[in-house]
Amino acid sequence: TKQKLWGGRFTGKTDPLMHTFNQSLAYDQRMHAADIKGSIAYTKGLKRVGILTEDEETKIIAGLQAVGKEWGDGTFIPAPADEDIHTANERRLSELIGPLGGKLHTGRSRNDQVATDMRLWLLEEIQEVENGLRGLIRVMVERADKEKGYLMPGYTHLQRGQPIRWSHLLLSHAFSFRSDLERLQQLIPRISVLPLGSGALAGNPFVVDREFLAKELGFQSVAENSLWGVGDRDFIVEFLMWSSLAMTHISRMAEDLIIYSTAEFGFVTLSDAYSTGSSMMPQKKNPDSLELLRGKSGRVFGNMAGFVMTLKGLPSTYNKDLQEDKEPLFDALVNVSMSFKIAEGVIATLDVHPEKMRQALTMDVLATDLADYLVRKGIPFRETHHISGRAVALAESRKCQLNELSLSDFKNLNDKFTEDVHEVFDFEASVERRQATGGPSRKMVDRQIAVLREVLSN
Ligand code: ARG
Repeated sequence: TKQKLWGGRFTGKTDPLMHTFNQSLAYDQRMHAADIKGSIAYTKGLKRVGILTEDEETKIIAGLQAVGKEWGDGTFIPAPADEDIHTANERRLSELIGPLGGKLHTGRSRNDQVATDMRLWLLEEIQEVENGLRGLIRVMVERADKEKGYLMPGYTHLQRGQPIRWSHLLLSHAFSFRSDLERLQQLIPRISVLPLGSGALAGNPFVVDREFLAKELGFQSVAENSLWGVGDRDFIVEFLMWSSLAMTHISRMAEDLIIYSTAEFGFVTLSDAYSTGSSMMPQKKNPDSLELLRGKSGRVFGNMAGFVMTLKGLPSTYNKDLQEDKEPLFDALVNVSMSFKIAEGVIATLDVHPEKMRQALTMDVLATDLADYLVRKGIPFRETHHISGRAVALAESRKCQLNELSLSDFKNLNDKFTEDVHEVFDFEASVERRQATGGPSRKMVDRQIAVLREVLSN
């Protein structure tokens, strides 16, 4: 049958370019399994309300399973007239089981069908995304645990600020991913809402048991309004927004590592597995993996922004514009999943150079500790900040390090300075003083690791 499913009222032919323009099978075939699953549940629903006999139900389900198997084996042959996965599957079903196949779509529309397929598909794929995210957090936590001894400067404005542990920095990114994991899980109840049984827009006149359908398909609830059921795509927007934010976190982490992998910093070296060379400059080893992670974040954000524009101004219920939900969603999903895996690989294989980090720790990053030293001797911080600043300026004018100033130099700045001032100039001690929750001390880094391990165990 070359005929279109909706051909009855038509006499003219579809323009060939219009057919290409209209078709979505090229990309929505990835939902073939969800489409078959939804149709099997709907078949059972029709049988329960007496539209199908038990024998018809059995035959349609067997037919649908056969179609599903063709997709699985890669033997499904699309027909030129197939518009989308829904028409393709129904066409094939009727080829296999005859006119009985024509009963399946009773009371159903592609409008409730496609919304159901998208939700089903996304619910399944989200599991993979979550696994990828967990894998990434896991390698970050393992690394942080092993490399707690590495000290480095912490930066603000990309200027050396205070000493921290390398693990503390890694974990800071892991905590962004922890929030992403939470947020991802929070999307699920709003994706898991069943549109099937909403019909084209005005609900189902055969009073199919939608709670039964929801149970069959593993949905948490049913769409309470049929117009909303067919017209809502907020679940896709939410996933795209989630993806944009998660990719922003990936991008910021990538940026740190790109900077740290320069010869100027030299804190880390990317493994060959995640680097590429230059076609011209033989010495080059470029952090392409990290740059692509940073770059993909723009693309994923674009998918989100583009699709929100598609929705803006649409009238109620289904409009064909909504077919434009697919490519941005599929593209975001593929790239987000891949990005988590690449990021995991990069972190797992990264070569870290603690001696370079140590070399970057100049004494000036202890200027805050110097001010704090005087605070402990009773001077208000606003004054000690000033005194410490003058010590920094003095060392700078002498072209020496802060700890190379003599005791009499310090005493000239303030008479509360005593011999023990030189104990300030110890990076490890500085980090270890930061015992408040959330700090870079060993104990607090261990605490962060424990918190994240707990998250991963759930
Ligand atoms: N391929 C369509 C989509 O992805 C399916 C729904 C078509 N419905 C319709 N009334 N034309 O949105």
